[in-house]
Amino acid sequence: MNLVLLGPPGAGKGTQAKLLVKALSIPQISTGDILRAAVKEQTPMGAKAKAFMDDGLLVPDAVVVGIVEERLAKPDCVAGFILDGFPRTVSQADSLRCMLEGQARSIEHVISISVDNDELLGRITGRRTCKGCGKGYHICFDAPRVPGKCDECGAELFQRDDDREETMRKRLEVYDLQTAPLIDYYRNASLLRDVRGVGSIESIQHQILSIVQGDVG
Ligand code: AP5
Repeated sequence: MNLVLLGPPGAGKGTQAKLLVKALSIPQISTGDILRAAVKEQTPMGAKAKAFMDDGLLVPDAVVVGIVEERLAKPDCVAGFILDGFPRTVSQADSLRCMLEGQARSIEHVISISVDNDELLGRITGRRTCKGCGKGYHICFDAPRVPGKCDECGAELFQRDDDREETMRKRLEVYDLQTAPLIDYYRNASLLRDVRGVGSIESIQHQILSIVQGDVG
């Protein structure tokens, strides 16, 4: 099954993708995670991406399309994949379609997760991530048992550099301008399904699974 999770920063794409990995046994491909790993490892691509990410802007299309093309060619994607944070522009969506057509594959579902901006700001400023295993938390809505420590591996939690309020506001503007047009793009292709991303993480997961497993028409 080939899925795209679409939604503004903080909508819960990463949270839901990680649960879908367990439910569907297909990998999550998060361009944000891949870029952050490249920044951490100080690769040439990471160095190029860092300035854009720190300013809340999109990394150039050619860079992210190359990342995704390379990742989709790996054997674990044969049975399907969950794209989290890609595509983010109409040009990226066109590139993805061409890339998949060349391999006789296509996107089957695009899940658009919607959440109001005030809620998004609260979520992002309270988000924490594990330095060890990458598990995500929220200091109020999904808090670790021991403050600042991961429930799974005990490693320290950190706040992302681009989760400061000013950068977050820029990311929301960029989403409205460059990524929101994909909602109509995929609606016109009859691939889009809307999910309200508010409520318990489990109830949202249930709605997404119902859609992708065909229980909802
Ligand atoms: P990326 O890492 O993709 O960030 P994003 O899309 O801005 O999304 P987030 O990771 O912030 O949010 P999310 O929707 O995954 O929410 P999460 O599940 O974490 O991209 C970062 C940067 O990389 C971009 O700004 C850009 O520079 C670059 N980049 C990446 N992809 C690119 C591309 N394709 N093209 C160009 N540039 C690209 O949840 C957020 C918080 O809310 C968590 O704390 C979570 O615990 C909590 N939460 C989740 N669900 C709920 C719920 N139901 N109720 C309450 N709290 C919840």
